[in-house]
Amino acid sequence: MNPLTYTPDVARATADIRPLLGGQYSDTAWEGLAPYIAEINRLKRERNAVILAHNYMTPDIYFGVADIVGDSLKLAMEAARTDADVIVQAGVYFMAETSKILCPDKIVLQPDIDAGCSLSESVTAEDVRLLKQKFPGVPVVTYVNTSAAVKAESDVCCTSGNAAKIVRKLKGEGHDTVLLIPDEYLAQNVAREVPDVKVLTWKGKCIVHERYTAEDVADIRARFKGDIYVIAHPECHPDVIAASDFSGSTAQLQNIIETDRPGRVLLITECSMGDNLQAANPDVEFVRSCFMCPYMKRISLPKILHSLQTMTTQVELPGDVMTRARRPIERMLDLSL
Ligand code: 13P
Ligand code: SF4
Repeated sequence: MNPLTYTPDVARATADIRPLLGGQYSDTAWEGLAPYIAEINRLKRERNAVILAHNYMTPDIYFGVADIVGDSLKLAMEAARTDADVIVQAGVYFMAETSKILCPDKIVLQPDIDAGCSLSESVTAEDVRLLKQKFPGVPVVTYVNTSAAVKAESDVCCTSGNAAKIVRKLKGEGHDTVLLIPDEYLAQNVAREVPDVKVLTWKGKCIVHERYTAEDVADIRARFKGDIYVIAHPECHPDVIAASDFSGSTAQLQNIIETDRPGRVLLITECSMGDNLQAANPDVEFVRSCFMCPYMKRISLPKILHSLQTMTTQVELPGDVMTRARRPIERMLDLSL
């Protein structure tokens, strides 16, 4: 049987998945996707593999083949506890490195090694060494959106979901100044939340979130006469966050919709997250105004299938980098509890 043909077996194997997608794909599109979904799910069982998918994955991946979905923090926590032999990272490269660091004995597959991140690419290990020389004794808090080599130079990692908490814990340990790198806007947003700590930062930006402006938010509020709930990711400029009703990691944005159940939402983050939330919350009206992450969008069903068929590309890191990078990630996981 050709596994990439839409057969009655494929239709049966994917029958429970199609309704989850909330009518986002036409019948023709679905018949192209379903054979990939069926074959990936079969191969996952054969290889004892688990697919960890970020909230920015497209709905076919998010609902069709992912075992665990979530923000960067949840994916790191789940990687640390999985008993699968193989982890397929449906997300960007730094996420796959984090999984490898936490699970050095497992095979971690990255379906496209060019799935980078503008934040991760904005800072090098050498930059961090120079910062430490310039600010001796100041703890280096590194956003997970960084390379393993940068993490290896850091004291503790953070995600958008726990950055303020980690900075508060460092304050509790007697640090009045911290370096929070490389995302300038995230650092400024945390500084606003934790005003008794001086937050030094770097010039990194997310190419998706830096595009939003406070004027965009004001225009959309005016268009709906104020009847709209605005939620934004903290990689946005502080003016955008100030103009929003709520800010948080992708998982926290999802949670606030599921708990508060607003009628109409402007979701200021990557596009696929809106598609996934719309499918899961058909009663909520999502106002479409989003930008795509070109790195996240490099991951597709055909690439995931190819990755599982060929067991490529396996993430490999130098042993000393892994050992040194594990400490700040584990410290973050401990401090997040
Ligand atoms: P989250 O940790 O909030 O999912 O963010 C990851 C990311 O890359 C956002 O752009
Ligand atoms: Fe990096 Fe921004 Fe893409 Fe997230 S959305 S992976 S921070 S470029």
